[in-house]
Amino acid sequence: MLSSKILAVLSAFVVIINGQDEKEEIRIFSKCAKENGFDLKDLRKQSDIKELSQPHLCTIKCTWEKRNHLKNGKIDIKAVQANQKFLSMMKDKEGFIKCMSAVDNVKACDDVKKILNCTEKFRVNYMQECAAETKTDLKDFRQRMQGKKEQKNDKIPENMLCMRKCLLEKKGVLGKDGKFVKDQTKYDHIGVRMRNKEEYVKCLQGISISKCADVMKMAACYKKDD
Ligand SMILES: *[C@@H]1O[C@H](CO)[C@@H](O)[C@H](O)[C@H]1NC(C)=O
Repeated sequence: MLSSKILAVLSAFVVIINGQDEKEEIRIFSKCAKENGFDLKDLRKQSDIKELSQPHLCTIKCTWEKRNHLKNGKIDIKAVQANQKFLSMMKDKEGFIKCMSAVDNVKACDDVKKILNCTEKFRVNYMQECAAETKTDLKDFRQRMQGKKEQKNDKIPENMLCMRKCLLEKKGVLGKDGKFVKDQTKYDHIGVRMRNKEEYVKCLQGISISKCADVMKMAACYKKDD
């Protein structure tokens, strides 16, 4: 009963539109997903580079190629450097560029892990920041998100809920007033895979979140879409 509802609520932004919640990015990503047989619903399942499916990896490779950051297996470093939006997500921009400069021979879908290893290492890590702030064990959180952990009695620990709230805030999906920010919500990783985005956003805009437990109110908006 619990599982899918809670899963949806706890699911953080997972992987990886490379952090750009931009319409154009989303358009490319969706197109690539379609071409590679990747179901956007699966975005909720995965959180670790090691666990990404082939269709997902191929989709990511495709997006890099379509936005001309990857050509014939080579990173176009100039293009990456010019992508300010993308770079703004990096904690250590120089380190990231250096790491990316060493990436070569991205031919098979699996090879995009070379890119992902760089982004993972150098990006601002909301997951880690929020885990520290809410004293949440990340492994535990991931297992719950992936439904690997039996959850009895509808009891979700308070810090898990706070973790979810924290992620929404850091991503700018949830404003300081506890209301959902329209554009961010629509193109958040969960929003992306909703069939009826308009309704989903409208639904979320009807609730407000002040306490951690309030994130459970979001479940109603996921349910409508299923
Ligand atoms: C990515 O990083 C992981 C962990 O550090 C490592 O085991 C793996 O070999 C790396 N993958 C690639 C393709 O560089």
